Amino acid sequence: MTKAKESKSPDVAAYYDQAAGNIPTFTVLNYGYIDPIDDSLVPSDHPEKYCLKLYEHTVRETPLAGAQVLEISCGRGGGARFLAKAFQVAHYTGIDLSEENIRFAKAGNDGPEFLLGSAQALDIEDESIDVVINIEASHLYDDRKQFFSEVLRVLKPGGYFCYTDGCWANDNCTGDLLDAGFELIERREITPNVIAALKLDSERREALFDAMPDKSLIEEYKDWGGVIGYRAYQRFVNGETLYFSHRLRKPV
Ligand SMILES: C[S@@+](CC[C@H](N)C(=O)[O-])C[C@H]1O[C@@H](n2cnc3c(N)ncnc32)[C@H](O)[C@@H]1O
Repeated sequence: MTKAKESKSPDVAAYYDQAAGNIPTFTVLNYGYIDPIDDSLVPSDHPEKYCLKLYEHTVRETPLAGAQVLEISCGRGGGARFLAKAFQVAHYTGIDLSEENIRFAKAGNDGPEFLLGSAQALDIEDESIDVVINIEASHLYDDRKQFFSEVLRVLKPGGYFCYTDGCWANDNCTGDLLDAGFELIERREITPNVIAALKLDSERREALFDAMPDKSLIEEYKDWGGVIGYRAYQRFVNGETLYFSHRLRKPV
């Protein structure tokens, strides 16, 4: 008898729920991005500026003004609030699996709508969305192909999919996107931009982890949180993991 494959979602949700209690200062939960040509709308004194710049990079050249936008895995909502305001989005919905992240996101309520839900079974109508955004989350899903097919289902014909994530070096993520039926507008490997951001942001991240009341998780969070010399950072530097951004469209 074949044992049904267990879902990792309950553990993932529990991890992010617990992190929300331990490190509440973060409103954005990605490794960040920096570009040598900096024409960014992100305020230069914003403490989470590199993480917001990854949002800005992900949606570059995508028409957001007046659009129906869906962000899948919106985390604590900091990126959603930035994009919705900076780009005059008509309606921005953020969905996340973690109840605590959604509670955080709703607490800062000033525009976007936030809902609890799974990337692989979206409670969103067919062909109702102009732009889907997904940042640094798909590596946590049980079934990335099911996620891609959900994105295609909810997008209007001609709608955009702005997608960034880190992956193992041998992962053919672009192939899966094309097989799913997306048209590729642009694909960029941005690992050097992510490493450069982490270099500049490592001290802030490390100080927040060191200040946690529960000292037992400090090393784990430094591994996960991109601190220089720790696991996630080293994997990028050693080339074991790469970071890609994709801009795609649903065919008309
Ligand atoms: C690294 S965080 C990134 C969050 C956000 N995109 C950001 O940059 O701040 C990954 C997020 O993915 C969410 N997530 C993981 N698995 C999910 C799933 N199956 N469905 C929806 N969200 C999921 C987690 O709860 C977490 O908030």
